[in-house]
Amino acid sequence: MIPEEKVREVAERLSIVEVVSDYLPLRRAGSNFSGLCPFHAEKTPSFNVNPAREIFHCFGCGAGGNVFSFIMKIEGLSFPEAVKLLARKSGIEIEERQLTPAERKSQDEHVQFLKINDLTTAYYRSVLLNSAEGEPARKYLANRSVEPDISEAYRLGFAPDRRDGLVKHLKNNGADLDSAVKLGIVRKSDSGWYDLFRNRLIFPIRDGRGQVIAFAGRVLDATLPKYINSPESPLYHKSSVLFGLDMALPSIRTGNAIIIVEGYFDHLALYRAGVQNVVATCGTALTGTHAGLIKRHAERVYTLFDSDNAGKKATIRSMELFLEQRIPAYVITLPAGDDPDSFLTAHTADDFAALRAKARPAFEYFVHSLLAETPPDSVDSKVRVIDDIVPRFRKIADLVERDLYEKEICRLLGITVHAFRKRMGGGVLSSRDSTQNQGNSLPAYDNVQDTLLALLLNYPEARSEIERIGLETVLTGDHLEIARLLMDSDHGLDLSRLSELIENPEQKTLFSRIMVSDGYLADIEWRTVFDQCTRSHEKKQLSSIKDIASRLAVLDANSEEYGLLLKQADSLRTRKSKL
Ligand code: CTP
Ligand code: MN
Repeated sequence: MIPEEKVREVAERLSIVEVVSDYLPLRRAGSNFSGLCPFHAEKTPSFNVNPAREIFHCFGCGAGGNVFSFIMKIEGLSFPEAVKLLARKSGIEIEERQLTPAERKSQDEHVQFLKINDLTTAYYRSVLLNSAEGEPARKYLANRSVEPDISEAYRLGFAPDRRDGLVKHLKNNGADLDSAVKLGIVRKSDSGWYDLFRNRLIFPIRDGRGQVIAFAGRVLDATLPKYINSPESPLYHKSSVLFGLDMALPSIRTGNAIIIVEGYFDHLALYRAGVQNVVATCGTALTGTHAGLIKRHAERVYTLFDSDNAGKKATIRSMELFLEQRIPAYVITLPAGDDPDSFLTAHTADDFAALRAKARPAFEYFVHSLLAETPPDSVDSKVRVIDDIVPRFRKIADLVERDLYEKEICRLLGITVHAFRKRMGGGVLSSRDSTQNQGNSLPAYDNVQDTLLALLLNYPEARSEIERIGLETVLTGDHLEIARLLMDSDHGLDLSRLSELIENPEQKTLFSRIMVSDGYLADIEWRTVFDQCTRSHEKKQLSSIKDIASRLAVLDANSEEYGLLLKQADSLRTRKSKL
């Protein structure tokens, strides 16, 4: 734990422009400095640093924050690690708080776990490379064209067909076998310790930093089960691990996209073909945690699953997760009967690039595969298709996208938008949607919200004014959340510090964007702009009331949707009258 005063001391000692300049050349551009963004590939600079605010923001990829966020992102460090790195740079000494005995114990155990995994990886690797027992595995890999450099990149190994080969190796190296049991790679019975993996090819599973946290073992023949994997352990939670992430990160960073596959060998096949922004789930379906992890690293995701039915199901299930997390998702479709490995065995990397270029938006893929299964040639089948679509459609968070898909679905099904909405029954404007929809997804509206927020950040007088009329009457969504944080954090307003307090990634991006682009507000009469903004907000509210009214006109007054819309109109009127 680093004391807060130390963190501030480090921040004050350094200039963000100098720190960033160590990584990329910056040129002055008005009140900012700009350069080519290190976090995504670009040819014209959209990366901005505002020295007065000590904030950076990239208009291309949305990365933003203060000097610590920059170091965390570019060096792949945690917050305390970033603070320490910058402290060293600025010659500040950091004494960490003493660990409690319990913390010390768990830290020691963690070190022991990692050591055991390293010993285990090295043991299996040496059996594969050097021992006579490794011969069948060497043959197997040669058969599948896994060359030594690839074997090394994955640190592949082989578990010999022995009861306690690993046990002995760990013992000889002074490792604590009880800890190995906790990792699941060694087991204990009445007749002694024994290995989990026997006669299997070993894939070490590493976390994003390259530390081995678990293992997967594949048989060399057709015996079942094909794979066994390390069980859940203090180091390994399969629902939050993406296999190959550490190898993929550099390439993800340049392309801002992740390809997700299902198998270890699929990963290997792509990596070998030079497609390196790939991760695989570890013998489990994709989870929300995985999706969150993907979102942290990339702007887009491609799914590349087998072309069979199970693969289709997995594709659609993962689409739902990506919709929920608002990650643009695309589907790469393989020829029937292929998996990524077999495709790349028979085709070139260019062929794969062509497939990838043809990837379809996941929702479109979903609608089309549904229609292929159930052609909408009767009222009955149309209803069935709509009912399959609706729960997923509701998860589309982006209003513009929703609108486009609604039209497309209606066109494909040959129904009116009105009929679609009717079938959705209150779905379009459920109470949950209504809060979301008023937020940041309406582009024109955002300008007003941006300006209002920028005024609050720049002019303390505007802050007391907005407090008088109530934040909620003029701000919504992420803008409202940031404004709340600003009002609550009364300290003499260190805006760079404020950026650290914002946890939500979208809000972080929004904040840094405003911070580097509000120069136009520097010498203005804040009151005039403020009034313009509130008036424009009022108009917007008014027009949504009108919009609702016209929809009410065509609905059955007893329907659920009618009731919900009415409630919404009411609350809009109340808010408007407060202005
Ligand atoms: N899997 C598993 N346990 C099994 C079978 C599969 O954990 N008994 C997981 C593994 O993560 C595997 C993935 O599901 O990589 C995909 O399975 P499959 O396609 O059968 O394996 P591949 O790794 O593609 O192996 P291969 O190419 O050798 O068939
Ligand atoms: Mn496979």
